[in-house]
Amino acid sequence: MTWVIVPAAGRGARFGGEVPKQYLQVGGRSVLAHTLAALTVHAGVAGVVLVTGAQDAPAAAAAELALAMHGKPLLRTPGGATRADSVFAGLAGLPDTVRADDFVLVHDAARPNLAHADLDALLERGRADPVGAILAAPVRDTLKRAGDDGGIDGTEPRERLWRALTPQLFRRLQLARALEAAAAAGVDVTDEAMAMERQGARPLLVEGADDNFKITTPADLARFEFVLAQRHR
Ligand code: CTP
Ligand code: MG
Repeated sequence: MTWVIVPAAGRGARFGGEVPKQYLQVGGRSVLAHTLAALTVHAGVAGVVLVTGAQDAPAAAAAELALAMHGKPLLRTPGGATRADSVFAGLAGLPDTVRADDFVLVHDAARPNLAHADLDALLERGRADPVGAILAAPVRDTLKRAGDDGGIDGTEPRERLWRALTPQLFRRLQLARALEAAAAAGVDVTDEAMAMERQGARPLLVEGADDNFKITTPADLARFEFVLAQRHR
């Protein structure tokens, strides 16, 4: 059984608005509740450490979030200024039963459309890897490098280029050390794999569905609303 850290302490600057995007309601519950439910429905998930911002998650939300947990424990811990800081705080908030070399998952609160089969594949293949693994999707668009004037300087080969998704699966202590090292070096790592890569590790890429998207702008929320409507037809 694997614990999950869910960073949810972001303010959603690109989304805009008063309420952080993970607390917006869609299809009868919050984005965060959808995310927690998609994780905890999996039999391999033991529980969740939810990393929240200082004034987030009002008491009213607690009952709704508990309902999404499929009877599994939900622990809370306050986050930090960056996503990496929040994940580091989440690692410290894991229960003592999670040993130093146990694998833990990290999954964005703002990524509610995680498929059971993808989580399955990540757990199975990631646990068999000495380092760990991440869900990722191959880049499908043609990539252009822009010049300072906005003109195209060239076309970049997209072979071997992947978009990093979450969840990402690493060992508790190795991930904590990697995040600590990045912070000490002043490098703002944007995912867990990047922290591990800086340590010389080579995490495995596990191909996941393209539609495990992160809600970044209002258009993404509309997309998720559409996905839910299709799901319940
Ligand atoms: N996150 C976090 N702590 C931070 C920043 C981000 O826990 N200091 C979380 C977000 O809540 C989100 C995930 O990390 O679930 C991915 O981050 P992102 O999509 O960038 O969310 P925000 O940082 O909230 O959005 P923005 O960058 O537009 O401000
Ligand atoms: Mg952000």
